[in-house]
Amino acid sequence: MYTQALNTREAIGPVEDPEHEARFQARVDGEEKVEPNDWMPEAYRRLLVRQISQHAHSEIVGMLPEGNWITRAPTLRRKAALLAKVQDEGGHGLYLYAAAETLDVSREELVEQLLAGKAKYSSIFNYPTLTWADIGAVGWLVDGAAIMNQIPLCRCSYGPYARAMIRICKEESFHQRQGYEIILTLSRGTAEQKAMAQGALNRWWWPSLMMFGPSDKESQHSDKSMRWKVKRFSNDELRQKFVDATVPQGLYLGLTFPDPELRFDEASGHWAFGAIDFDELRQVIAGNGPCNHERMKARRKAHDDGAWVREAALAYAEKRRSRRDTARAA
Ligand code: 3HC
Repeated sequence: MYTQALNTREAIGPVEDPEHEARFQARVDGEEKVEPNDWMPEAYRRLLVRQISQHAHSEIVGMLPEGNWITRAPTLRRKAALLAKVQDEGGHGLYLYAAAETLDVSREELVEQLLAGKAKYSSIFNYPTLTWADIGAVGWLVDGAAIMNQIPLCRCSYGPYARAMIRICKEESFHQRQGYEIILTLSRGTAEQKAMAQGALNRWWWPSLMMFGPSDKESQHSDKSMRWKVKRFSNDELRQKFVDATVPQGLYLGLTFPDPELRFDEASGHWAFGAIDFDELRQVIAGNGPCNHERMKARRKAHDDGAWVREAALAYAEKRRSRRDTARAA
């Protein structure tokens, strides 16, 4: 939808220009949306390409831990819901690659960066889904954290990203509920099923908190991103909102959070929690998480296995183009 008639960077004008930048900032401050052919600072364009592409890659790699469970889902209803959810994630990746393409970068380039191991994707997808309860925890916690982070992105200053996020958030909300319902069912089941739900919470709680990124003190991009209204809240603010929303949900299930320091702080009105192991986050981002190698291997295999589809689609498009040209010339 956006890839036709887009101006290239050269056509849009000077890359850095204080006068243009001041006008741009005033538009952003006035809550006007920035659109693909508008002038924008080069650093704004780069920040968006970085974030949108990492986000797109996360959606695509995020299909893997749950895709593993489609054949093992316990009932037909669970299987159908999980299948639909994994397909949704693939769709989110495609909307996001399309939004990134409006910034003069091709999807092929972005996918190439992912497959070459040069691009980041969310740390969370480098953890294994060991039991069926993990699928519930992924929906409840991982999609829950994603929604907390992504609802404010619906108001992001860049129009194509903001619009893509509206649909994504609606679907993520369904994902979160299906995950919570799995955990609810298990936690009301046999002692063994409840223990499975508890085990999944123990495994996914801390990695879910890490999804929000480094602490505000360590975050490199937050200042610029918030000034340009790409991000509306800092990493720590969103993490706290997530904890506040999620702890009562876990307590309702009768589960225990794996954090002895978790307590409600009457003075601030927030749940206080223990220290996050940011070394673990750094290690996972650096490629040393439990499943980084496996995830990239699976992505490369999927890409190679799909080569014939891309070739066939290109050949078909070429055939249609040459038929059209011949008909026009006649
Ligand atoms: N995993 C991997 N890398 C992470 C990370 C995480 N959990 N958190 C931060 N990082 C990286 C950043 O990308 C950045 O690396 P870079 O400089 O090489 O690009 C570096 O660590 C420093 O972090 P900052 O806080 O300075 O970076 P940001 O301002 O970009 O904030 C963010 C990080 C909150 C993840 C932000 O990029 C964001 O909101 N992104 C959009 C949402 C997104 O990508 N979500 C993915 C999660 S899940 C998902 O989408 C799938 C769903 O189906 C569950």
